[in-house]
Amino acid sequence: MDSKPSSASLAITTDIILPSDTNALNGLFGGELLARVDRICCIAAQRHSHAICVTVSVNNVSFEKVIPLGSMMTIEAKVSRSFSSSMEVIADVYLEDRISGAKTKVNEAIYTFVAVDQYGKPTKVPQVIPETELEKKRYTSALRRRQLSLLVAGKIKPNEATELKALFQ
Ligand SMILES: CC(C)(COP(=O)(O)OP(=O)(O)OC[C@H]1O[C@@H](n2cnc3c(N)ncnc32)[C@H](O)[C@@H]1OP(=O)(O)O)[C@@H](O)C(=O)NCCC(=O)NCCS
Repeated sequence: MDSKPSSASLAITTDIILPSDTNALNGLFGGELLARVDRICCIAAQRHSHAICVTVSVNNVSFEKVIPLGSMMTIEAKVSRSFSSSMEVIADVYLEDRISGAKTKVNEAIYTFVAVDQYGKPTKVPQVIPETELEKKRYTSALRRRQLSLLVAGKIKPNEATELKALFQ
């Protein structure tokens, strides 16, 4: 199976925030953002693997800034690293200023997807080739995040989380 650059999985969506998407303070609901990010990350994972992909874990989401009603919001997602059947996908969330057109990053989310066959059984995926400095940084740190996620889920033992242990040595 040939490796593929991270950029080949890039998936982008732009939408406007409507009243039905917001809370009482006219900011985007957290759950609404999570759902939108999940969808575009799934597209990135499927673009990388050419398989059906399911969300296995939401590793990290930071709601750093409010996304106000009427915002033009863009989410860009790319597979940062793949393992055997799983893929880490990172989404960057931007707001676009209506007047100047300037894009500001407001949030970031990290999800893990698993490629499955028609019976829902995990299937192998291509490896990722990181190209830019950011892609290389995210590729390297993905192993640490995978171990943390598996540890929290009780799927590995603390002594198997070698990358995490190395952080404290
Ligand atoms: C995802 C799913 C197919 C995994 O099946 P499984 O039999 O548990 O398979 P495994 O334990 O071999 O895990 C498959 C991969 O997921 C990874 N994984 C499992 N749990 C994980 C977690 N919490 N965090 C990160 N990776 C995880 C495993 O490390 C493995 O990766 P690898 O193949 O790259 O080494 C199965 O759990 C499933 O169908 N879950 C429901 C998915 C779903 O419906 N999502 C939408 C939620 S509403």
